Amino acid sequence: MNIYVNSNLEFHLQNNYISYIIKILENGDLGHLYLGKRLNHKDNFSNMLQIFEHQVPYTPEQIDGVSGFALDSLKQEFPGAGTGDYKEPAYVILQDNGSRVTNYKFLKYEILNEKPPLKGLPHTYILNNDEVKTLKITLRDELLNSDITLTYSIYKNFPIITRSSSIVNNGEKDLTLERFLSFNLDIVQKNYELLHLSGAWARERNIITTPINQNRIVIDSKRGASSSNSNPFIALKEKNADEFKGEYIGINLVYSGNFIGQVEKDHYDNIRINMGINPFNFSWILEKGESFQAPEVVINYSDSGLNTLSQNYHNFYKNHLIRGVWKDKARPILINNWEATYFDFNEEKILQIAKKSKELGVELFVLDDGWFGTRNGDTSGLGDWWSNLDKLPNGVEGLSKKINDLGLKFGLWFEPEMVNPDSELYKNNPHWALSVPKRKPTLSRNQLTLDLGRSDVREYLYEKISTILKNSKISYIKWDMNRNMTDIWSGVLEAKRQGEVAHRYILGVYELMDKLTSEFPNILFESCAGGGNRFDPGMLYYMPQIWTSDNTDAIERLKIQYGTSIVYPISSMGAHVSAVPNHQTGRITSIKTRANVAFFGAFGYELDLNKITLKEAEEVKKQIEFFKENRRLLQFGTFYRIESPFENGFQKTSWAVINEDKSEAIIGVYRVLSIPNPNFDYITIPGLNPNFKYKITDEDILGEEFFGDELANSGIKFRKIGLDVHDFNSLEKLGDFRSKLFKISKINP
Ligand code: DGJ
Repeated sequence: MNIYVNSNLEFHLQNNYISYIIKILENGDLGHLYLGKRLNHKDNFSNMLQIFEHQVPYTPEQIDGVSGFALDSLKQEFPGAGTGDYKEPAYVILQDNGSRVTNYKFLKYEILNEKPPLKGLPHTYILNNDEVKTLKITLRDELLNSDITLTYSIYKNFPIITRSSSIVNNGEKDLTLERFLSFNLDIVQKNYELLHLSGAWARERNIITTPINQNRIVIDSKRGASSSNSNPFIALKEKNADEFKGEYIGINLVYSGNFIGQVEKDHYDNIRINMGINPFNFSWILEKGESFQAPEVVINYSDSGLNTLSQNYHNFYKNHLIRGVWKDKARPILINNWEATYFDFNEEKILQIAKKSKELGVELFVLDDGWFGTRNGDTSGLGDWWSNLDKLPNGVEGLSKKINDLGLKFGLWFEPEMVNPDSELYKNNPHWALSVPKRKPTLSRNQLTLDLGRSDVREYLYEKISTILKNSKISYIKWDMNRNMTDIWSGVLEAKRQGEVAHRYILGVYELMDKLTSEFPNILFESCAGGGNRFDPGMLYYMPQIWTSDNTDAIERLKIQYGTSIVYPISSMGAHVSAVPNHQTGRITSIKTRANVAFFGAFGYELDLNKITLKEAEEVKKQIEFFKENRRLLQFGTFYRIESPFENGFQKTSWAVINEDKSEAIIGVYRVLSIPNPNFDYITIPGLNPNFKYKITDEDILGEEFFGDELANSGIKFRKIGLDVHDFNSLEKLGDFRSKLFKISKINP
C-alpha cells in the first residue's frame, strides 16, 4: 500500500488490488484519472487526462488562450458550480452577495500514516496504522477565504478507498452550504449499468439494475432516515458482470439520514457519480471560523463479480466499522415477544413464553413494545419511559431478575426518538416534537418525532434510558424508530438555520447512541426502524445488528436477506422464526424452512413457543442445537450468494457460508414452488478449496465424497426439493416452500 506523488502533482493511491489516481490540473482544480484494478506506478499518467486538442464547442474554457481545457469535459474529483461545468456539482455555496459562483483551487496536500476519525459522525476505523495511509488535499477559494479538504484513505488489505470532505469558513462573511456532498467521481463509461437496492416497508432492499443513458439517475431519501425505499448504496457494474465475474464499483454512504446518490452520463460518455447528504431541505450556515464535515463514503472495487464486492464490504464492516465487545463475540439466540403478544401481555404471559424458550435452548428473552407508561396500543404512552405496573407489577426491574433467574438473559425495547401526543412527555414538553408553530403536525403511527437536535431532549432520553439500564439486569436493547420525518422545524434554531434541522437530528441521534453504547459497553444493541428503514453503515457503527425487516415470512426473507447481503454482513441482519400463517403475508411455511432462512442472520424466534406442536418443539430444539454448533461458522464465515431470488422467476434461491480455512461450509437451498415431473436439482458450490476432499452427508445426495473443484465446477445433484419422488408419503418433503441445508466438511487425509 502506498501513496505516490509525482512531480507533476499526480497522486497514485495503490495497494495490491486497486489504484486510484488523481491530479492537480493546470488551472488548480482536482482532476480524476483512474479508479480500478491495480496499475504499476510510473512518473506520468498524463495520457489519462481528458483535455481536448481543439476548442470545445460552445463550452467555457478555463485557461485563457488554451483550447480544450474545459471543466465540462474534464473528469473531476469535487466539482463546484458556476465556472463552466454544467453537470451536478458536489457543492453549492450561497454567499452574502447572493452569488453561488465559487473557485476552490489547490492549496496543499498532506499524507498521514493513519485514518483520522470524523468528529460527531460514524466512520470506518483502523487500529493498526501500518494498514492504512491517508491523503488530504486542501483547496482554497481566495475570495471567500474558505478551504475544502478532501480526505482519501487506502488500506493494505482491502480493495477499498474511503473518502470524505469538509469545509471551513475563515472569511468575515457567513457562507451558506446549500449542498455539500461527501464525494464525487467522474469516470469513463465502460458499458456500466447501475445497481441499487430499493423497496418499501416489508419489501426492503430488492436488487434493481438500470441502464445508464445520457441522463441523470437519482437514488435518494427525503424521509429523514436512510429508508427502506432506497439504501444509501449504488454500484456501477459492467453489463455482463454477475455474482462471479466482471467489474463492480460500489459506493456506500456511512450516514442514516436524508441522502442523495446520483449517476449522470454526459455527452462525452463520462459518468459522474456523487453522493452525500440530500440537498433537499438542507442548508447549513458557516459563520467565521466554523467548519462542516460531510459523512464518509466507502468505495469498493471488484473485478471478480458481485460476491467479491460484498465479501469486501462484509469483511471491512465486520472488522473496521462495527465496534465493541459484540464485534467478535457469539451473538445470543433470542426470542422476541412482539409477534407472540403484540401489546397484549402481562408478567405471567411473558414468563410462560420465557420458560418454554429456555427449555428449548433459547439464550435471551427480549421484551418488545408495550411495557411502559400507558402503552396498551400504539396510540399512547410513547416517551414515558417507566414501567407499566398494571402489566408488570414488579416493573422491568423485577421481570428482568425473574428472567435472569430462569437462566435467560433479558433484553428490552425502546423507541427513544418518538413521542405519542397522548403521553406525559408530550403534555409537559409539546415543543420538544418537530412541528411548525401554528400548524397541526402530521402524525404517523399516532406519533411525532422528537427534536433530537436539542440537547435537552437528548438529556431527558439519556436520563430515562440509563436509569432503567442501571436498575435492571439488561443484556440487550432493541432501539426502534417507527416513522419518517415531517414538519421539520426546530424551536431552538433561528429562521435562517431551519435547513439544518434534519442533519442536526441525525447528529443528535448519533451523539445519544454513542453516549449510551459507551456507557453500557456490554449490552448488545440492535437497531431497528419499523424493520429495515435505517439499515445503513451509520447505524452499524453504533449497533452491530439491525432488525432487517418487519416481514418475517421465510420466502419473502429470501429476497430481503439476499438483497441486504449485497452490502451488509449476515451477522448484522436480525432474522427470526415466526408463527404461521405469517403475519405479513398469510403464508404457511414449515418450521424447518423458517429456520433454514433465519440461520443466515442474527438468529432468533418471534412467536409463542407454547403454541407450536410437540413435533415442532422437538424440531426447534434441534434447530437451536444446530445453530449453537455452527454459530461461529454462520457468524464469522464468508457468505456466498449462489442463486438469486431476483432471477429465473424466483424459483430457487441458494447461498452458502464457508469458514476461514475452508474446512466447513453450510449451504442453504430454497425452492419456492414445487415442480411436477422434475429433473434432479443441481447446485454448484463456489469458494471451497479445489484440492480438499469434502464429505456431504445427506439422504438426498447420491455419492458422499467430492473434491472442492468438482463442487465448484460440476456441482452436485440431489433429489428435487419439494417433490420427493422417492417418498410420496413424506409430507415433510412435499409441496411448496421447501428447503434444505447441507453441511460440508473436509475429510482429513
Ligand atoms: C416495529 C419493529 O420493527 C417491530 O419489530 C416492533 O418492535 C414494533 N415496531 C413495535 O412497535
